[in-house]
Amino acid sequence: MIIAYTRAVSPALAHCELTHLARQPLDVEAAAREHEAYEALLRRLGADVRRLPATPDLPDSVFVEDTAIVLDEVAVITRPGAVSRRDETASTAAALAVHRPLGHIEQPGTLDGGDVLVIGRRVYVGRSSRTNDAAIGQLDRLLQPLGYTVVPVEFTDCLHLKSCVTQVAEHLVLLNPAQVAADVFAGCRAITVDPAEPHAGNALMLGGSVIHPEHFPGTGSRLVAAGLKVVPVAMGELAKAEAGVTCCSLLLRND
Ligand code: GLY
Repeated sequence: MIIAYTRAVSPALAHCELTHLARQPLDVEAAAREHEAYEALLRRLGADVRRLPATPDLPDSVFVEDTAIVLDEVAVITRPGAVSRRDETASTAAALAVHRPLGHIEQPGTLDGGDVLVIGRRVYVGRSSRTNDAAIGQLDRLLQPLGYTVVPVEFTDCLHLKSCVTQVAEHLVLLNPAQVAADVFAGCRAITVDPAEPHAGNALMLGGSVIHPEHFPGTGSRLVAAGLKVVPVAMGELAKAEAGVTCCSLLLRND
């Protein structure tokens, strides 16, 4: 059984952090409708969707992925790189403590979960404006004894590592080769995004399907051509807040 933790869209979402995108008018009610449809899709694909407590004063709090890294053995509570996001982690920690022993990223480390891509026992961590070397070192010390290898990764021109690369099947990643080098991901083949869709590298595997934003049809077609079962989801309004499909949930196995 997969549990998917989510959190309601904050009414303050239009005041979210933005790093690589210009601010555009954002319809918070439309974003909330997209989010509800996304949660319904997670349920349809077999997840037990549980909402974390609402935090209406924290604009980016719907992006729960950034607050923790959940592995089978441990949940590591992050220390988000944006100061405005630091108060998001407490309620995540309270929820995850029921399922896993907790580890914590501590000052001076900063780390967003969106920068962490776990493939098997390899934990790829993007060096970014949100995630620093102190946190990568802390993560290594927490996870190496559990048999994981932490691999720092360079990438460019997007917010998080998982903005430009995600796993879409066993030994298969989707990535934008202009933003991250494919040869970093040892043992994985790569599907590249449609060059007309540079932000299409973020996909979410769940229940044998791949959730992918419907506003990137060219890349969606490439995933289908590779034999994957793709489920398009509307994310156009949430994307204005620099969001992808992985950002809005924290998935954990609960066997
Ligand atoms: N708006 C998403 C983030 O900057 O964290």
